[in-house]
Amino acid sequence: MQLREATPADHAVLHALWARTPGIQLRAEDALAPYCAYLARNPGFSLLAETDGRVVGCLLAGHDGRRGYLQHLAVDPGYRRRGIASALIAAVLARLAAQGIAKSHVFVLDAAPEALAFWRARFGWGERGDIRVFSTMEQSR
Ligand SMILES: CC(C)(COP(=O)(O)OP(=O)(O)OC[C@H]1O[C@@H](n2cnc3c(N)ncnc32)[C@H](O)[C@@H]1OP(=O)(O)O)[C@@H](O)C(=O)NCCC(=O)NCCS
Repeated sequence: MQLREATPADHAVLHALWARTPGIQLRAEDALAPYCAYLARNPGFSLLAETDGRVVGCLLAGHDGRRGYLQHLAVDPGYRRRGIASALIAAVLARLAAQGIAKSHVFVLDAAPEALAFWRARFGWGERGDIRVFSTMEQSR
């Protein structure tokens, strides 16, 4: 298994991986143009895992200059429980730390029980009970 940076050319493969992965909700921001814009704004933080030349996992990441944010962590079912997600997270956090970002967040849907179990099992990650997330969209203000 090898890790490498995600590129614009990986979009179709990643979009297909996210689309077939329960626990990941596709949004308008997952289309090609916003995906490319995200990579350009956060260069070098989003990684893929490849086995035999096939993409089997991925993790998008970026930061706002203060906190890191991890998104769309997915590993294909046939490749789970081999440490691929753990390797992706460790590599992404190392890259964020190298840019001075010491603390990162991940938002997990209640409707993603596998991901919730995974994050709850992770050493060093604390589930927050003291925060509620409020979201808005430009047209809803
Ligand atoms: C969550 C996910 C990325 C984990 O990928 P993975 O490569 O299998 O994870 P790892 O092999 O690195 O797991 C490391 C450890 O995490 C824990 N873990 C992993 N999956 C788990 C699960 N489903 N339930 C409980 N603990 C789990 C275990 O302790 C595991 O170590 P072990 O295999 O020695 O027991 C994968 O199950 C997945 O793609 N799920 C659907 C996608 C999803 O919901 N994404 C939303 C992310 S916010």
